[in-house]
Amino acid sequence: MLRLAFVFFVQLMLCFSLVPGLAIAQQAVAQDAAAGAQIDRSSTGGAQNLNDILARQRGQALDDRFRSENTGNPDAAAAMTQQLGTLGGASDPELWRQLRYGTAEVKVSAGGDVAKVLVQDGGMRWQAFRDGPLRQYGAWLLLGTLAALGVFFLLRGRIRIDGEKTGRTVTRFKAVERFGHWLMAGSFIVLGVTGILSLVGRVIIAPYLGRAPNAALLDVGKWLHNVVAWGFMVGLAMIIVMWVAHNIPNRTDLVWLRQFGGIIGSAHPPAKKFNAGQKLIFWSVVLFGISISVSGVSLLFPYELPLFAKTFAALNGLGLPELFGFGALPVELAPQEEMQLAQAWHAVLGFVLMAIIIAHIYIGSVGMEGAYDAMGSGEVDEAWARQHHSIWLEEVQQKQADASVAGKASTPAE
Ligand code: HEM
Repeated sequence: MLRLAFVFFVQLMLCFSLVPGLAIAQQAVAQDAAAGAQIDRSSTGGAQNLNDILARQRGQALDDRFRSENTGNPDAAAAMTQQLGTLGGASDPELWRQLRYGTAEVKVSAGGDVAKVLVQDGGMRWQAFRDGPLRQYGAWLLLGTLAALGVFFLLRGRIRIDGEKTGRTVTRFKAVERFGHWLMAGSFIVLGVTGILSLVGRVIIAPYLGRAPNAALLDVGKWLHNVVAWGFMVGLAMIIVMWVAHNIPNRTDLVWLRQFGGIIGSAHPPAKKFNAGQKLIFWSVVLFGISISVSGVSLLFPYELPLFAKTFAALNGLGLPELFGFGALPVELAPQEEMQLAQAWHAVLGFVLMAIIIAHIYIGSVGMEGAYDAMGSGEVDEAWARQHHSIWLEEVQQKQADASVAGKASTPAE
């Protein structure tokens, strides 16, 4: 049941967020050749030769069906009389090919399906992705976001409260709302920092502080990451329960978006408790946060919660990958491949959410005068509330007026 719920969540996430790029990459080499001329393998009786090896070293995608489909069939083996011919049955290379392409009949007394996989070359692609594009694009995304915000701050400056503050305040967030927010925010920051360290510690810390300090730091970081993750999930659940009703899109959001929320320009479009920009933040946090949590739990309990094969099957069933020109996604994945995809997915979404949250932290602190009070003390000045959430302020004041009328009516006459 739990497993099904997880699968459902991930399917939802996959539909709404990024296209699963690594799966395509995992598949790419095994699929049709994308590059490289037809290689003449007659000299090796159909086996791979130097040209194949050179093409792989050049990073070209090779059509390796001549190997992957040539397993377990003694009739297809080169004849005894041929160069590199077998002795008429399965040869050693044949067995190794079967092991590599997962067609060998492996029996194990312990360890289950995981132990049956003796060769899993997807690990090489995963490692190349983790050490290369993931680090590189992740760093560019975060640094690019910081740079863009810096430029925006120089151009726009701090969004100030127009006119004088009134000195009268109104309660924007109750203590429990602030607790949920800070539990989620605090734990997300710890998760982001420890996650980045585990990805790049080896290249940015070890060369300067040494391997042993790096290992000790990452050990603590990993422990923190695993423990604090539960705090993030609790905080996330709290804000979903408390704020989801306020984040249903409505017509005022269109007006807000048309006027760029007053963030660009000087208009003050009306808004309820949350404006369209905040709703976008909320739904990003919810969708990405759930998906990161689900893939994180799958990593925390290795091989117990495989998510991707089932999700890909469901997506293939909907025809979505084909619609976007990716072809059918692989539905038979080795347990190790499931973990590699979970790691890649977890990290990619983590980077995207970190970039979104950096922008959110900017607008909630230096970017807008008076905003921080809402999450700090919970009280905001009426002038700020009128400027940014006029409909919400009217609703709150109306409720207060109704409550005081009701209070007076129920007070017995002396
Ligand atoms: C130091 C870091 C942070 C600061 C200063 C900050 C500040 C704020 C403030 C002032 C608000 C209320 C805005 C209003 O009154 O309308 C808010 C709301 C919110 N925060 Fe944060 N926040 C931080 C970190 C985070 C993190 C890490 C997350 C999620 C992982 C997060 C998620 C949210 C969400 C979903 C809302 C409601 C939607 C919105 O107002 O944009 N915050 N935050």
